[in-house]
Amino acid sequence: MSVNISDVVEIVSKQNQWRGKEAINLIASENVQSDAVKQIEVNDFMGRYAEGHPNTSQGDNRYYEGTRYIDQIESMATSEIIKLAKCLQADVRPVSGNAANTAVALAVLRGNDTVIANSIEVGGHISHSPIGVVGRRIQVRGKVLTLGSENSINIHYWPTTEDGYHLDVPKCVDLVEQKSPNMVILGKSLFLFPEPVREIAEVCRAKNIPLLYDGAHVLGLIFGGQFQNPIEEGAHFINGSTHKTFPGPQRGVILGNMSSEQEIKWWNSVDRGVMPGSSSSHHLHTLPGLLIAIREMAEHGKKYAARTIANAKAFGQALTDEGVNVEAREFGFTASHQLALNVTNFGIAKDIARSLSEKNNIITNYNMLPGDNDARNPSGLRIGVQEMTRYGMKEAEMGELASLMKAGLEGKNVKDEVTQLRSRFTEVHYC
Ligand SMILES: Cc1ncc(COP(=O)(O)O)c(C=O)c1O
Repeated sequence: MSVNISDVVEIVSKQNQWRGKEAINLIASENVQSDAVKQIEVNDFMGRYAEGHPNTSQGDNRYYEGTRYIDQIESMATSEIIKLAKCLQADVRPVSGNAANTAVALAVLRGNDTVIANSIEVGGHISHSPIGVVGRRIQVRGKVLTLGSENSINIHYWPTTEDGYHLDVPKCVDLVEQKSPNMVILGKSLFLFPEPVREIAEVCRAKNIPLLYDGAHVLGLIFGGQFQNPIEEGAHFINGSTHKTFPGPQRGVILGNMSSEQEIKWWNSVDRGVMPGSSSSHHLHTLPGLLIAIREMAEHGKKYAARTIANAKAFGQALTDEGVNVEAREFGFTASHQLALNVTNFGIAKDIARSLSEKNNIITNYNMLPGDNDARNPSGLRIGVQEMTRYGMKEAEMGELASLMKAGLEGKNVKDEVTQLRSRFTEVHYC
């Protein structure tokens, strides 16, 4: 007799209905996949193993047999993402952006090394912090890993300008000169404006310091040619999630643009950082979907990224017109898919995020803003418009949404109006 699964099926169908058809999804790290991507994820690869690299006519590179077809998919995904990114190397095996960061940290860093990154207070990601993969103890060169402080990484933070949303370039360059770190990281989670990659890459290249650009959030905007291009600007590694502004399955990618002898050494070490460092078999069933999403972005990425950014700016203006405090107003609110709102005049950000979600079907997350110091009680909401843009919303809908959001911030019940707005946008575009 088969087991009873009706309760599981019911919960999943409720989720599909709520987040797929009724809610306005504004979490900046999420997206929706095309039907083609979703449908291909149910396949035989989901139970299989493929460690190592695809076998080729020149070499046997796997540890198990039966990989003939994943070899083809993995090779195609690698070469097609290299073409899309216009870079020299790619590793499509990390299972997420965090796993990509882990792989690079394991490859490049050793205990007692020094790193410069964005602090969480100004939007940096937890993986770059003392409690994330970068700050964790890593084996000291030539020694066995022992528990204790000698193996930890020294982290310094990039100085910002007074507004907190931009790096102070001369001070950052000085810091690199002073500390001679073993790696620097640019890119963050609250990511409104481009980073000064060119200026920092110049000093890093002169001092042989690897520069990792964490483009988890903005990968789709970069591929669409609408944000800075860290590859052209001189980053060595570009890490990304493939499910945020890049609207594919949940995975990660490491891109490289390296050609000197030293750089090729870094790239070769990343190989061990990926496997066995941060994963073994890499959730193979989602890789065909990544390949499809790469092709969707090659075809539609430019329009999708441009529309996303235009919508974010329009939403910033419309919310401001409604009397909501949108951060970075003097800089045009944003150059990405994100906005940061200071909601302290409406109440406690954490409670507001919960009430927007549970009472009004508007899904956001509470977030620290520059100047905050308590991650559990910050003053902001972070918003991303990339998903609703993929569902076809344009500037006009940003105006409608701003007035519903304002009502929600004031604690009014506008769930029916929100659900009605969303019901007009359930088809995925740009695919
Ligand atoms: C800057 C940054 N890096 C890495 C990650 C981790 O990515 P993932 O969730 O794909 O592991 C995130 C997640 O939001 C992020 O914002």
